[in-house]
Amino acid sequence: METVIIQGKLNDSKILVNESVNNISDHLPDSQILIITDSNVNHYYADLFKDFIKIVISPGEASKTFTEISKVYAEMVHIGVDRSWFILGVGGGVVTDIAGFISATYMRGLNFGFISTSLLGQIDASIGGKNGINFNGIKNIIGTIRQPEFVICDPELLNTLPEREIKTGIAEIIKYALITDHQLFQYLNDHIKQIVQLNKTQLSHIIQRSITIKANVVNHDEHEISERKKLNFGHTFGHAIERISSNNHGESVSIGMILASKLSLKYGYIDEEDYREVFKIINQFGLPTDFLFDKKQTIDAIKQDKKRSDHQIDFILLEKIGNALIKKIPIADLDLFLEDI
Ligand SMILES: NC(=O)c1ccc[n+]([C@@H]2O[C@H](COP(=O)([O-])OP(=O)(O)OC[C@H]3O[C@@H](n4cnc5c(N)ncnc54)[C@H](O)[C@@H]3O)[C@@H](O)[C@H]2O)c1
Repeated sequence: METVIIQGKLNDSKILVNESVNNISDHLPDSQILIITDSNVNHYYADLFKDFIKIVISPGEASKTFTEISKVYAEMVHIGVDRSWFILGVGGGVVTDIAGFISATYMRGLNFGFISTSLLGQIDASIGGKNGINFNGIKNIIGTIRQPEFVICDPELLNTLPEREIKTGIAEIIKYALITDHQLFQYLNDHIKQIVQLNKTQLSHIIQRSITIKANVVNHDEHEISERKKLNFGHTFGHAIERISSNNHGESVSIGMILASKLSLKYGYIDEEDYREVFKIINQFGLPTDFLFDKKQTIDAIKQDKKRSDHQIDFILLEKIGNALIKKIPIADLDLFLEDI
């Protein structure tokens, strides 16, 4: 087990990499515990948590709405949860976003921790203290920044994760490699087969590396004033695609990363060969690469992106593989770019 520390403004967060979920009692405080999980995770792991009080939500993005979370608040009031309780979110990014948001807001804030059960959750969503919900179909537009006391990342939990969800996590790992770490990019290229087959050695390596990258970024810029924005590489188009299509987060971000790389090529930051490398790795992991969506709907969705200000957006481009930069781009230019492809 390795512990990675995130130094939050209010409290530190311990990311327990390769910690077994069976050791959960070593990390819980001596107070009443409320588990928030979803029905898929509960289906597989109910036995592990049979002695705890639990609220089980429906799985999927549709739960990240006020309507759904107000049902959780209501249940908490009914159970009698007060400020002395500790909330344990057990699930993927949807559950940890919801559990984190609820913990930050219920009675002005309760202490909380996560057991992160999806690959995307372990390497990204559960780490860094951002806890968002969607509103009027706009992704994560309402949210809080508050660090969990701990996050358990047990790779054994990934054995029950559907293949599509493994790939969605790999999309974010490819993102880390593209924006910060050429060596990780090379490693991914060299071990595609082993990673897809969930080989423990390779999987642990890329999980650990990804967590370290995210923790470093958050430790320098918890509130996304500058460097943390780079983690949004692929997400401007990605969030728009996620909103208007049935693609999940990682699939949408994959297409978003291809588009952002194409734009980086257009602006002259990367060359054709870099662009082909980006395309190739996303394609070889079986993630989608083609933009097949309505261009107007895509631009309309981008106009509602929370990173937009006035008529421009902080867009993340690649400077080379392993390095990203932030550029303010007018939304009208993104419109023209989409028209041209
Ligand atoms: N807060 C952040 O910083 C941040 C960062 C990235 C993504 N996100 C958010 O994370 C969400 C996506 O997270 P996700 O991909 O984990 O989605 P998810 O939570 O919906 O999980 C994907 C699916 O896998 C199931 N599942 C989870 N763990 C399982 C397991 N061990 N075994 C079997 N099934 C399991 C879930 O029930 C769900 O059906 C999005 O809402 C996104 O906005 C947040």
